[in-house]
Parts: sequence; structure tokens; C-alpha cells
Amino acid sequence: MNVSDLQTNIHAALRAWHKPGGDLQELLDSLMLVQEQRTAVAADGSPAKLRLAANLVLLDAIEELEKQDHHGAQILRWRFPDNNTIEQVAHRLNVSTHTVNRTQRAAITSLSEIIFAHEQHHREQHAQAVEAFLPPASYRKLFGLESAGDQLLAQILSDQAPWLIALVGIGGIGKTALADAVTRRVITTLAYDEIIWLRIDHHTLTGQSLSPETTLETLLQGIEKRLWPQRVKGKPSQERLLDIRQALKQHRCLIIIDNLESEADTAFLLSHLNDLAQPSKFLITTRTRPAHQAIVYNHHAEELSLANALALIRHHAQDIGISAVSTASDEELGAIYELTGGNPLALKLVVSLLDVLPLGQIRANLLQGKSGPLDEMYRQIFRQTWQTLSPDARLLLQAMPLVAESGALPDYLQAISTLSDSQFWPAIQELRNRSLLEVRGTLLEKRYGIHRLTATFLNADITHWDQDQPA
Ligand SMILES: Nc1ncnc2c1ncn2[C@@H]1O[C@H](COP(=O)(O)OP(=O)(O)OP(=O)(O)O)[C@@H](O)[C@H]1O
Ligand SMILES: [Mg+2]
Repeated sequence: MNVSDLQTNIHAALRAWHKPGGDLQELLDSLMLVQEQRTAVAADGSPAKLRLAANLVLLDAIEELEKQDHHGAQILRWRFPDNNTIEQVAHRLNVSTHTVNRTQRAAITSLSEIIFAHEQHHREQHAQAVEAFLPPASYRKLFGLESAGDQLLAQILSDQAPWLIALVGIGGIGKTALADAVTRRVITTLAYDEIIWLRIDHHTLTGQSLSPETTLETLLQGIEKRLWPQRVKGKPSQERLLDIRQALKQHRCLIIIDNLESEADTAFLLSHLNDLAQPSKFLITTRTRPAHQAIVYNHHAEELSLANALALIRHHAQDIGISAVSTASDEELGAIYELTGGNPLALKLVVSLLDVLPLGQIRANLLQGKSGPLDEMYRQIFRQTWQTLSPDARLLLQAMPLVAESGALPDYLQAISTLSDSQFWPAIQELRNRSLLEVRGTLLEKRYGIHRLTATFLNADITHWDQDQPA
């Protein structure tokens, strides 16, 4: 909304000051300020209370206007809350109706600017508060996801089906990153009453999740914690399910379930989530495509194009301070793309390797795995990465699969890695520079974790790598 639309609405709302109810414009329905007042004073939704909510917002702004334009504010009060005509006000002030009209118009313009500024401020604060619950983004800039993001956003914002949306694609392709970017856009639209991001914690050591029933139970506990933070002890599971169902039917909530991996989990969960959705929606990221019968909209995360991959390579290199890349030609960097395809995680890891190995050597090693499946490419990348790490960084990385997927605080990591203060932070920095460590947690509490793919390969292959000759 811009100030001039708002001004039209505000004029309509002022004229309707004494009218119970009214249309959306007269009730200033689009303002978050008004929505908040409604929660406070118009819980019963009666027309008179809806009017009161809009009037309270107007009065608040008139009070502020008074500080900068006493005369204008006075005229607004006489005209609308006190219900005098233009003629009555002109008579009282002993001026022409033309003068009153002019002053009133200027006052409404100022009033609109004041309300616009309040609204903006309020929206920003609200968005920040909701965003604070999201894990920090794993990227600084995203490439090639504009149109995918737009499509996904449209699906999420529509008030029709699909209620369940699945973002499907191979490991490292950018599902979590895309879900994150879109969620941040959704937050600014205020289309949802609540936005809850849940991450499935796999048993990182085994790579297996718990049973589907346990996964569902954990998710419901996560939702309960966000919807009713004051509940010290959660409710018994049957009651909890009923409460959540009722809340998700009454309010429009967006629930993002990140990293839903196993087919069993996905099939089981989707059948339950269907019952909880509408008007609330679920966005799921998963490596396995949900079965046909589940009523979901599938969005396939695609590989990056060459141009976007090159942009990502250059950007990431700059981010972690690898200067060699800035002078490399597109053809030279294209060689990386030929080997990794447009898989962002693979691209980031290879770029990080350029810090310690020449491109030719990385290529030669990668070529050995090229004919195999995606797994083989990643195995080669992780192997080379591992072999070029310092002993301290290896110790720390080796400890990482022991921590939950939601990450761990530095103190804990230091304890389990057995590194001293002077070894620990350089090791953290080294792993960060090699794109192996991700920052998790919230803005207020930073945690470190590793990508699920890193964990998979560490667990499966590390013992072989230790016996290998350096690459
Ligand atoms: N389009 C992109 N531009 C820049 N960086 C990206 C892009 N897509 C993904 N990334 C980065 O690549 C890494 C891998 O992406 P992400 O974790 O989203 O993959 P994923 O598909 O969720 O993988 P998994 O199935 O293992 O969970 C992340 O560090 C992410 O920030
Ligand atoms: Mg993911």
C-alpha cells in the first residue's frame, strides 16, 4: 500500500466515524495496526467494536498530529469524532468553508503520513520478531531461484489448495535455501497469523530417522511449543493433537517442515498433515517425491544453469576470500560446472577447495568419480576436502556428527572436540572457510552444525580416507 491509497481509506474511515461496521476501506482493514487493535478490543467481531478498533488507530495518530499541527488536528476532532459539519466548524472559527476544507485536506495528508510511518515500523518489528524464530540463512545471496521463488510464493499465498506443498530434489540442490528465502518473503506479506519452521532431527550418527510415529510426535511437540509457549509441560498427545487441529483450523498458519527424508516418514506424515491443513498450509522439503495419492503440490528443485553456477562460484569465492577465482576466466570456472553440474553445495565445496588445491588437480580427482552417480562425485569432493584439512580441523569435524542436526553451542563443541581455546577458534574458521560448517540456531543463540551430506560421508567414508595417501 502507498500513502495515497492509504489517504483515500483514511478519509473514508474518518467519514464513517460514527457508523458501526462498514466496508473494508472504512474499517481500515488492511492495516496491521488495526488488526492489533481488533485483537485487543474487538475479540467478539461486532460491528461497533470493529469501528472502535479503527477509531483508536485514528485517534492515536490525531494525537501525534497535534504536536506538529495543532490547528489541523483540532479541525479533524471537531469534524469527525465531534461530528460537526464543515459549515459548523467554519462558523466556530469564523473563517470560510473553503479555508476549513483546505486545512482539513492538509491535515488528512499529514495524518496519513503519520499512520503510514507507524504501520511500516510496526510491520518491520513484526517481521523481525517472526524471523528471529527462523534458523539463520545458509546463504548470503541466492542465484537462479527468482522464478521458482515466485511460483512457490504464489502457491503459499493463495487461499485455495494446495494445502500441502512439497519441495523435492536431491541432496545439496537448495531445497532448504529456497524454502528459507520464500518463508522470509511470506513473513513480510503478513498473510499468515503464525509461521513455524521445524527441522527434522535425524539421528546424525546413523543417518536414520526415528519411526514415522515418533517423527510426527516430535513435530507436534514443536508446533505446541510455538503456539503455546507458556505451557510448561506439554499436553498428552491425543489432547495436543486436538488443540493443534483446532488452532490450525481457526488461524492461518504456515508450517515448514525441513528435511523430511525417509519415504516412510513422508507418506505417514502427509496423510496426517492433510487432516490438519486448510486454511493452514504445510511446506515440506524432502529428497523423496511423495507418493501420488497424497494431495500435494510438488515443486522440483532444479540444478543451476551455467550462468547462475558461475555467478555462485564467483560470489562464494569472494565471500570466503579466495582471490584466484576473481581472475579466472568463465571457461576455466566452467570446468568445475562440467564436473559438479549445477548442484550448489557441490559448487561451494569445490570453490572452497581452491583455497588449498589447484583447479587442475581437483578436476583430475573428480574425473575419477565422474562416471558414477551423484554420490560418487560428493565422495570425491569430501575426500579431497578431508585430506587438506589441518589436524585440529579434522578433530573438530569428526566430532560434528555427534551433535544434533540443530547444531551445538561453541562451548559444547569445544568440549567434545577436546581442542584448547587457541586451537578451537582457528579450527572453526578453517571449517567455515571450507564451507563445511553452517551456522544454525537463532539470531540470539548461534549454533554450529554440518550439512547432512557432510555427515553422511563423514560417517561412511572417513576411515578409508584416513588410510588413503593424500590426493
Ligand atoms: N541457488 C543458490 N544460490 C546460492 N547458494 C545456494 C543456492 N541453493 C543452495 N545454496 C547453498 O547450497 C547449500 C546446499 O543447499 P541446501 O542445504 O538448501 O540443500 P538441500 O537441497 O536442502 O539439501 P539436503 O537434501 O541435503 O537437505 C547451502 O549452503 C545453500 O545455502
Ligand atoms: Mg535441506
